[in-house]
Amino acid sequence: MPVNAPVSDACLEQTFRSARTRNGWIERDVPETLVRASYDLLRLGPTSANCCPARFVFLHTEAAKNRLAPFLTEGNRAKTLASPWVAIVAWDWNFHEKIPELFPHNPGAKDWFEAEPARQEHGFRNGSLQGAYLIVAARMMGLDCGPMSGFDKAGVEEEFFQGDDRMKDWKVNFLCNIGYGDDTKLKPRNPRLSFQDACAIL
Ligand SMILES: Cc1cc2nc3c(=O)[nH]c(=O)nc-3n(C[C@H](O)[C@H](O)[C@H](O)COP(=O)(O)O)c2cc1C
Repeated sequence: MPVNAPVSDACLEQTFRSARTRNGWIERDVPETLVRASYDLLRLGPTSANCCPARFVFLHTEAAKNRLAPFLTEGNRAKTLASPWVAIVAWDWNFHEKIPELFPHNPGAKDWFEAEPARQEHGFRNGSLQGAYLIVAARMMGLDCGPMSGFDKAGVEEEFFQGDDRMKDWKVNFLCNIGYGDDTKLKPRNPRLSFQDACAIL
């Protein structure tokens, strides 16, 4: 049953007000159960026709993170190697093929996404939404995130996806470090646009 009431102030604090983008990590591992729990929450976030195009590759081992390292910008490398987990947030170019399973009352909705421009628009849009749900879900699990777009996209796709049958049509969207943030590495919080500057009510 929907609750239809604001969540607790503590939840707002943890998820948005005090939550920050992290640039460094304390030495504390994150159990795989919390990563799985974050996915189990984020997958419930809404997407067009429930198309769920996002795919996630979670890097945890030293070896996996080292495979990523050459493709990161200089400023993103050290903090990513030090992060307990790194999520490659991707989306599946063939996401529409799962629509009969995901939207069973209208399996023909698959055809809405057949044309390449539609796949690009809806796959990227909904995959990005699911990437944002990951950040919020991880924060709700008590974790911190460090999303990044500073990396060589083609290089990451070649290294992680192209040799793998399941992943060969996945496209990288962004990367997200996940761990417990080191407060000493925080940069000052930047301003946000006011309601007046960013919104309109008609
Ligand atoms: C999609 C995305 C890509 C980003 N790329 C990078 C990046 O490559 N390197 C980096 O240091 N920060 C990156 N950031 C961090 C942003 O600069 C940061 O989230 C923003 O300034 C807000 O910071 P705050 O959450 O601490 O207020 C990225 C954030 C997002 C959401």
